[in-house]
Amino acid sequence: MRAEDPRPVRLAEYRPSDFLIDAVELDVMLDPTATRVTARLRLRPNPAGRDNAALTLDGDDLNLVSAAIDGDPLRVDDLDVSPSSLTIANPPRRPFELTVTTLVDPSANTKLMGLYRSNGAYCTQCEAEGFRRITYFLDRPDVLAVYTIRIEGSEAENPVLLSNGNLVETGAAGEGRHFAVWHDPHPKPSYLFALVAGDLGVVEDQFVTMGGRKVTLKVFVEHGKEDRAVHAMESIKASMRWDEEAFGREYDLDVFMVVAVSYFNMGAMENKGLNVFNDKYVLASPETATDGDYANIEAIIAHEYFHNWTGNRITCRDWFQLCLKEGLTVFRDQEFTADMRSRPVKRISDVRGLRSVQFAEDAGPLAHPVRPEVYAEINNFYTPTVYEKGAEVIRMLKTWIGGDAFRAGMDLYFDRHDGQACTIEQFIACFAEVSGRDFSQFLRWYSQAGTPEVRIATAYDAEARTFTLDAAQSTPATPGQHTKLPVVIPLALGLVGPDGRDMPLVVGGAPAGPVFALTDETTRIVFENVEQRPAPSLFRNFSAPVKVVSDIADDDLLFLAAHDSDPFNRWQAAQTVALRHLVASVAAVRSGREPADEPRLAEALSRAFDPAESDCAYAAQIAALPSEGDVARELGEDVDPDAIHAARGFLKSAMRRRLGPQLLAAYERLAETGPYSPDAASAGRRALKVAALDLLAAGGERDGIARAHALYSGARNMTDRVMALQVLSLHASPEREDALADFARVYGQDPLLLDKWFVIQASAPLPDTIDRVETLMASPGFDIRNPNRVRSLIGTFGAGNPTQFNRPDGRGYAFVAGVVAELNASNPQVAARLLGAFRTWRSLEPQRRGKAEAALRGLADMPRLSADVADIVRRALA
Ligand code: ARG
Ligand code: ZN
Repeated sequence: MRAEDPRPVRLAEYRPSDFLIDAVELDVMLDPTATRVTARLRLRPNPAGRDNAALTLDGDDLNLVSAAIDGDPLRVDDLDVSPSSLTIANPPRRPFELTVTTLVDPSANTKLMGLYRSNGAYCTQCEAEGFRRITYFLDRPDVLAVYTIRIEGSEAENPVLLSNGNLVETGAAGEGRHFAVWHDPHPKPSYLFALVAGDLGVVEDQFVTMGGRKVTLKVFVEHGKEDRAVHAMESIKASMRWDEEAFGREYDLDVFMVVAVSYFNMGAMENKGLNVFNDKYVLASPETATDGDYANIEAIIAHEYFHNWTGNRITCRDWFQLCLKEGLTVFRDQEFTADMRSRPVKRISDVRGLRSVQFAEDAGPLAHPVRPEVYAEINNFYTPTVYEKGAEVIRMLKTWIGGDAFRAGMDLYFDRHDGQACTIEQFIACFAEVSGRDFSQFLRWYSQAGTPEVRIATAYDAEARTFTLDAAQSTPATPGQHTKLPVVIPLALGLVGPDGRDMPLVVGGAPAGPVFALTDETTRIVFENVEQRPAPSLFRNFSAPVKVVSDIADDDLLFLAAHDSDPFNRWQAAQTVALRHLVASVAAVRSGREPADEPRLAEALSRAFDPAESDCAYAAQIAALPSEGDVARELGEDVDPDAIHAARGFLKSAMRRRLGPQLLAAYERLAETGPYSPDAASAGRRALKVAALDLLAAGGERDGIARAHALYSGARNMTDRVMALQVLSLHASPEREDALADFARVYGQDPLLLDKWFVIQASAPLPDTIDRVETLMASPGFDIRNPNRVRSLIGTFGAGNPTQFNRPDGRGYAFVAGVVAELNASNPQVAARLLGAFRTWRSLEPQRRGKAEAALRGLADMPRLSADVADIVRRALA
């Protein structure tokens, strides 16, 4: 293992910084291999820090050129300097100016953290700890400074020079060079710093805020792609408007800029006034983007924009508080999308995502609390738990105290903490204050890992006219947390009568609910005046991120699937029946029996294809069976991915046999007629159409395959084309090969479209997939230095192909581990992400588990493991 293991960082050991930095002036002389950065830092001792402390600045891979205090050069023996830190043992005990010059090589920066090059442009990524790769600094989020940036570079190569805040000066600098000076008046932590320089195209627009401020909006893209930036621009304006209307939050600079770059480790970054995006989440046109791309762009533009208040104006005291900005901002972007599109569809797709990724994380060796208490490498904590479970916690808080109190609490938070670096406790205190409730138990959602399980037993007493609900909660042990305490679980419910209507809820002689807080290990609720036996609709709208095990019979669930007034639970009821059925089918497959038929499920599904269902996007959710991952999680142990795939395939074929004519009718009714529009209703029609097609092609049925091929060939937009290809790719056929070859021929030169082609092939549940993925890795379009290419091909194979990643021969594990080893040094963050594919390895059946473990142990034994990879491997094996 590694020779020098850095000490893990612990929340309990937080100390305020001994020094503060009030102002930063950066002078950046761009050069592809030797960029010279001169930082002038206005420092002062922190009254909350220790007296007579040394000043230690963070660095990472830096070359020091010179340093001076108040203009007096420091000599080498005044300093203790290394690439990773700069210490001045006895700095002035008063405000002073420290000037530090460093040299960095953006071209050699393959980690894509700090200052690096992307397709000839310069860009930066500083969250979480990238600023220290540009200059020595107090690189921690509780050090907030005002930044003034001077950028100088070749005018021909970098006509565009950008940084945070407002542009204050530009001019010529001689010898073909020019400069720009940017000033950001809002104090910010270093992780929100950004710089972009290059030859970029731009789309401009304007937004007038509710206070009448005119804001210039700019989206920068590669030349020639300006027409693909229009949707991103519209999304910015929609986000700005929504944050004013929903939260009263106004934008606070003269300009808001988004830059699309093609080499980027994550989705996007909320740098103050200068959001930097993975181009995948900016560029869209009907010819190049799918409905899913349009929706993602809208959501991610919103997410990063919303960070301006939740993250930037109010930031995190330390990285343990990451969910303070991320969970809250995900919640805000979810609400934005719900308002822009269909609220139930958004909720269903978020819950699908939460269960498939976050519940899986929570159930495996990488489980951690929404607010972790220790980390070895912070980059590994940008997780579904921090983000998506973090958002669920905010949503529960709102459900628990109500919408008005929630809004009042948010207002108080913005008011009280603007300009500060905060903790979860400070955030929660605002809601405690406005609601008068005690949040001490609620805070366990932030400290306890694992998905709570709620067991529900019900009983109807016709004579007493009571309906009794017994709920028992428990949270499983997770790494480092053996015993758990009960949490506050908001249970939103309805009792649905035989007429399909909600009955009045009466408890203890008084109207009650519809939200009940489960706070103890067991809770009994006795509903009174219940005239007839109801079907209980539990956890409406998924009121808590818990696993529910209930005694509700399939008959009642199927009734709810048809009649529940809560659209989420209509969907959930049918899913639960399907999941129960699939679990039984897996057992049948594994013991060599034929799975049972399920005619009633076909009836529930058929509702999706009824012409009377007007919300097609919602219908498409009804039509989609639980995923293979859903079944694996439900099983929890001894998982055989091939048996799950077989059982699910069997059910899909049964649905095709039962619903054939109806599927065909729906498929034809939903055929594209007019010009393409990415709006939610049109996208919903396409999603439902492909759901019908997917079932028509179940089991490789010839007629369905022929239709998929026809849809591919005749497609007039990228959504139809890609979805048709996706359906074709599931079954070996000449049509499949023809369409795949055609797509490569026509679109193979566009990297983002090549990614779609990679994704489709990497996710195919066919035995030769691994060979293809290996061949594609060696093809000219693949570039291991580009994170999008790596994620599309290897990321998808690892995390999106249950049968082939988990091949019984172990080749899938060895392959992914091999790529991780290859990327370990050049881009540790991307390498560590790929390893996420192993997050459920312990739940596999013994033979596969052994092979997965061997692959992980092989990595663990590698010399010079990066901190990122070492951390994941160790926790996965612990
Ligand atoms: N704050 C960014 C976002 O939520 C993501 C930054 C991810 N950083 C990282 N090191 N993984 O949009
Ligand atoms: Zn974020």
